[in-house]
Amino acid sequence: MLSGGKTTEISMSNLHVTHHDRMAFNLLGNMRENVSSLKKLKRRLSDFGGAQVYEEIPVPGFCCFGITDTCMLKCNMCDKWKTDIFVEERLAPSVDQWKEAIRTLREIVPDGFEIDFGGGEALMYKGLMDCIRYATDLGFRTTLASNGWSVNKEMAKRIADAGLSSIIFSVDSLNPAVHDKFRGLEGVLDRVMRAIDNMSAASQDIHIGTCSIIMGATVEGIIDIAEWANAHERIKSALFMAVMQPNNTPLDDWWHSNDFEYLWPSPEQNVQLVLDELIKRRKAGYYIGNSVPQLQAFKQYFENPMAFVKSTKCNMDKAVHISAVGDVFLCFRKERVGNIRENANIAEYWRSDLAKKARKGVAECSDNCHFLLNCFFEADYPFEFDPAHLSQGLPGIGEKARPIPLSEVK
Ligand SMILES: C[S@@+](CC[C@H](N)C(=O)[O-])C[C@H]1O[C@@H](n2cnc3c(N)ncnc32)[C@H](O)[C@@H]1O
Ligand code: SF4
Ligand code: SF4
Repeated sequence: MLSGGKTTEISMSNLHVTHHDRMAFNLLGNMRENVSSLKKLKRRLSDFGGAQVYEEIPVPGFCCFGITDTCMLKCNMCDKWKTDIFVEERLAPSVDQWKEAIRTLREIVPDGFEIDFGGGEALMYKGLMDCIRYATDLGFRTTLASNGWSVNKEMAKRIADAGLSSIIFSVDSLNPAVHDKFRGLEGVLDRVMRAIDNMSAASQDIHIGTCSIIMGATVEGIIDIAEWANAHERIKSALFMAVMQPNNTPLDDWWHSNDFEYLWPSPEQNVQLVLDELIKRRKAGYYIGNSVPQLQAFKQYFENPMAFVKSTKCNMDKAVHISAVGDVFLCFRKERVGNIRENANIAEYWRSDLAKKARKGVAECSDNCHFLLNCFFEADYPFEFDPAHLSQGLPGIGEKARPIPLSEVK
């Protein structure tokens, strides 16, 4: 079963089988009758659509290629543009190595699986369009996060021609004095607005979304962004991120009260109320990219950034991350499982002992990091399957399924 679905778990000795409907029981029957080899049975189960068998190896649920760490902006809340403090040697993989990673990833994921191209500013990577086209032709969905600075008409056309499925532009505030101050340059808000127009003109099909950081300077304008995006003709998702310790800075549990205190909302700003208003709008069917459980996790995080927001474990054991120098991780802070400059076979890495070790590290981790809270947040049981939650008939992310007046939201 792919991520997000209802599952039934059947554990038999050292074989762990996960599956979602009664076909699993038929196969279990076969297993009793035919014990000639567990290997054979495993293969049969994996051949059956949707089954997930690799012993305890999950099907990937999330993938992000940090294809470059270069950036033309120098944001106040992100140090990506500075020399990477975690990497000694800065050797970039070739386009062919990225393509090989894409091809081998395809062996272990279903049709329509999404690859997120991030950075840095991914549009600064020369071979990007080539990689997007290659992934699209192999049946992937592709998403790109951008600050919008370089998306003029010509770039918008190149992006559309490459077949990109979705582009997410950073809009932290609708007030240029705030957005431009944090993005480190005057005119950035104006450029990202033009980027949205250029992208809209270049393609009717591409999904256009926005992404906004909830931080001290932006809290007051967050609901304005939700309203603006919802009313916008072409924007189909407004995603919100909780502010984190800036990228590429030495890890510090107390960052929010030490060096980067200026990013953290003050108690007077009442971020809890703002999040309640976002949740209300999400339930009303606004185009909000976060799920309700994720917004609720943001509430917990802003209440106490040190307390782990999940009641179970972190879900990054299902993630594939590749850094700008080609290092392959499940979680960036755990075991490095390989490098695509040496061997770009992602399927091989996924089943390796190093990946198992990294999964163990993920299972034991309780950091509230950017990757978990903002990038790949899966709700814990019972959120997902809570009948009370489901009976509210919430729209899917990016859908305006059943818009209802805010006053009617429970
Ligand atoms: C590293 S950026 C890469 C994409 C692109 N350069 C951009 O700014 O949109 C990915 C996302 O992280 C967000 N981000 C940067 N610094 C952050 C921080 N300290 N806390 C939370 N999100 C942050 C950005 O706003 C952007 O939406
Ligand atoms: S947030 Fe994006 S635009 Fe800003 S420095 Fe980081 S990578 Fe560049
Ligand atoms: S909480 Fe963060 S650091 Fe810990 S395993 Fe999950 S993604 Fe990695």
